[in-house]
Amino acid sequence: MAQNRGRGTRNPDSSAQNLIAAARRARRNAHADYSHFKVGAALETADGTIITGCNIENATYGLTLCAERVAMFKALSEGHRRFRRVAVVADTEAPTPPCGPCRQILWEFGGDLEVVLANLRRQTGTYHLADLLPLPFDARLL
Ligand code: THU
Repeated sequence: MAQNRGRGTRNPDSSAQNLIAAARRARRNAHADYSHFKVGAALETADGTIITGCNIENATYGLTLCAERVAMFKALSEGHRRFRRVAVVADTEAPTPPCGPCRQILWEFGGDLEVVLANLRRQTGTYHLADLLPLPFDARLL
């Protein structure tokens, strides 16, 4: 897969398989010493670049960052502004959807993303963020 000078990897895949694979790889980097629940995320930008994230826990517990927010903050800090999809991977039979704070951040910076959920073996669901976060609070209300 072509590299994009450290700013993510281009995704030529119209299915979500590359995106899911990237989230699975990112999951291996999770810092989940407290929950032992490792999560990987991969965010696809409008130009097809993939930016990944994993959950990062620490001794305070409360300062934990989820994989989705790590991916989004990395992407924003690299200058990306428009996004298409996010894949979220955990080692669970049931789908692991983004938590409430992640839904808010993904909505504010990514809009109505497609949210692709998967485990280590298969895709477990596909949603639209607008359905996961009905009646959102965002800048239009300020
Ligand atoms: N977690 C994520 O990274 N993303 C999710 O979608 C659900 C939860 C993390 C947070 C914490 O490190 C661990 O999973 C258990 O909640």
